[in-house]
Amino acid sequence: MKEQLDLPPMMGAKGEITLPGSKSISNRVLLLAALSIGKTEIRDLLDSDDTERMLDALKILGVNIEFTGKNSCIVEGISGNFPVKDAKLFLGNAGTAFRPLTAALAFSGGHYHLHGVPRMHERPIGDLVDALRLAGAEIAYLDNKGYPPLEIFPAKDAIADSISVKGNVSSQFLTGLLMALPLLGRKMEVKVEGELISKPYIGITLAMMERFGVKVEREGWERFFIAADSRYRSPGTIHVEGDASSASYFLAAGAIGRGPVRVYGVGKSSIQGDAKFARYLEKMGAKIEMGENWIEASAPENGLDAIDIDCNEIPDAAMTLAVAALFAKGKTTLRNIASWRVKETDRIAAMAKELSKFGAIVEEGDDFIAITPPPPPFSIHGSIDTYDDHRMAMCFSLAAFGTHLGINDPSCVAKTFPEYFEKFLEIAQPVPVISIDGPSASGKGTVAAIVAQRLNYNYLDSGALYRISALAAMKAGISLDEGTAIAELMSKAPVRFDGGRIFLEDAEITEEIRSEACSSGASKVAAFPEVRAALLERQKRFRKSPGLVADGRDMGSTVFPDSQLKIYLTASAEERAMRRYKQLIAKGEDVRIDVLLQDIRARDERDSKRSAAPLQKCDDATLIDTTEMGIEEAVSRVLELYRNASSGKTSRFDQPTPDLRDI
Ligand code: DC
Repeated sequence: MKEQLDLPPMMGAKGEITLPGSKSISNRVLLLAALSIGKTEIRDLLDSDDTERMLDALKILGVNIEFTGKNSCIVEGISGNFPVKDAKLFLGNAGTAFRPLTAALAFSGGHYHLHGVPRMHERPIGDLVDALRLAGAEIAYLDNKGYPPLEIFPAKDAIADSISVKGNVSSQFLTGLLMALPLLGRKMEVKVEGELISKPYIGITLAMMERFGVKVEREGWERFFIAADSRYRSPGTIHVEGDASSASYFLAAGAIGRGPVRVYGVGKSSIQGDAKFARYLEKMGAKIEMGENWIEASAPENGLDAIDIDCNEIPDAAMTLAVAALFAKGKTTLRNIASWRVKETDRIAAMAKELSKFGAIVEEGDDFIAITPPPPPFSIHGSIDTYDDHRMAMCFSLAAFGTHLGINDPSCVAKTFPEYFEKFLEIAQPVPVISIDGPSASGKGTVAAIVAQRLNYNYLDSGALYRISALAAMKAGISLDEGTAIAELMSKAPVRFDGGRIFLEDAEITEEIRSEACSSGASKVAAFPEVRAALLERQKRFRKSPGLVADGRDMGSTVFPDSQLKIYLTASAEERAMRRYKQLIAKGEDVRIDVLLQDIRARDERDSKRSAAPLQKCDDATLIDTTEMGIEEAVSRVLELYRNASSGKTSRFDQPTPDLRDI
């Protein structure tokens, strides 16, 4: 089973990130360095699945590559002639490896077999193959016409010295052709049919080819000319720019979550089209600043505005705008994104499906998507599917600024950014939680409620949810032994917390759940793992800005394991029995202290011995024993511990950090 990442709701974003190297530049530079005359030292190379695929392929083809650090290597150029003439290459789902290698190998005089993951075999390559055939290439489809896998044979003499390629499916076809044609050693012209999409990526290709000594002349974006004497030559040392598409997530985080967030690795002088993403974010109202090598984004005073834009310039980073649209006022329309349909997944369909899980109204067409966000605060129905698409996983992390969410198969980010989520958590600030666990009648409920009130935080009395479960089951005539039926009931039960009052459907049950029947019923139903699972999401939804104080038995261990502060509040069984005794006597009830003590011991036993989330002090919880401590002293102790924890962990966030000076 694939894993799921649980992202807590975020209340702010601030900080600095150094970006990993650009995928597009890394794979182009690797191939050009391999095809060159001489040795090239590559610095700041991206370390990811897609670059792995290119590196593996080049090594199999006989290229010597020596790593001098995690992100730097020396490539010994083979001067346009791969030593290995017969090879089988697996290229995963890396379009930036598959397309250019197909083109380069078509003119390498060998016999090659190129294949990838099943999705790669659904991504069209026919337009590139057609163009290569015009230049003499001998390529066969091994499965479906127009799609990988491919078999490549030594090329014949070129039929034409002017070839054409379609420009409206993937710009990687033109990139592949342009990078390969200098290998023919004669004059060639490439004409682009139809509108060329993703032009900035062709800009990157031309800039990189020029660094390696081949200058392509062009007329607009329609005609490109390769000179007869074109030969790739190593530039010596080359630095890979930071990945501008990856920058988009952090900049959007700054624009949504107050900011400022600054990324290093791209800036004013970037050659990547996606560096323009910041300008689109600016159109949504974000405050943007730029230096040569950095970009910084902060949120506008009054929230983001919706936009209606052509995304031809920023095809990949535009996905980030689709998720940012959840936080904008009104309908955002992203146009000219037909290429999304042939990427790692059909990104238009995937985006529409996932955005609608938040209740957004999404319209999709062949080449556009329009998003009308749900009214804030939004929540998610289910969890985010990522379709083995790194960008789906990365851009949906931004939805955490609106709600708690689960992201399925998060490790797909390894395609271009293996440490993405670690970096995201460096700049994003989760809504803080103070969890207070402990046995019954330890005073944790009273302490938690007062702490919440003093901090102006939300308060979760999780015990109430187990009490409500018992009451709802009794009302519905379900036996308290039927865990599955109770879980099913509670997954949909219309429970509402309103200030200190609790409602089930429209009936107020604030007092009713405190009855002895509900207390013992709660303890029974709480032992069923399926009931606990059914209540988990409900509990997580209480985590809202500016913070939460949660009391129960498993707040720190299970529900909010990333709590900023975990307290285990307890008192001796005798003291707790005495407190309960005084409470009940004050209410005029006739009770015996020895019976209450027995009862408390029995409940402690049941809560701590059950297999599902037993009551235990977590290793990272601070013990507060209130046997000889009043409520006010316990409250002060919790607040003091929180002040210490906050000053250490969240000092980056000067604004949202709770101000405890007046407490
Ligand atoms: O805290 P309380 O007395 O209202 O809790 C009622 C019951 O619910 C108690 O027997 C333990 C159970 N409970 C639990 O298992 N997990 C929680 N987080 C809170 C309460």
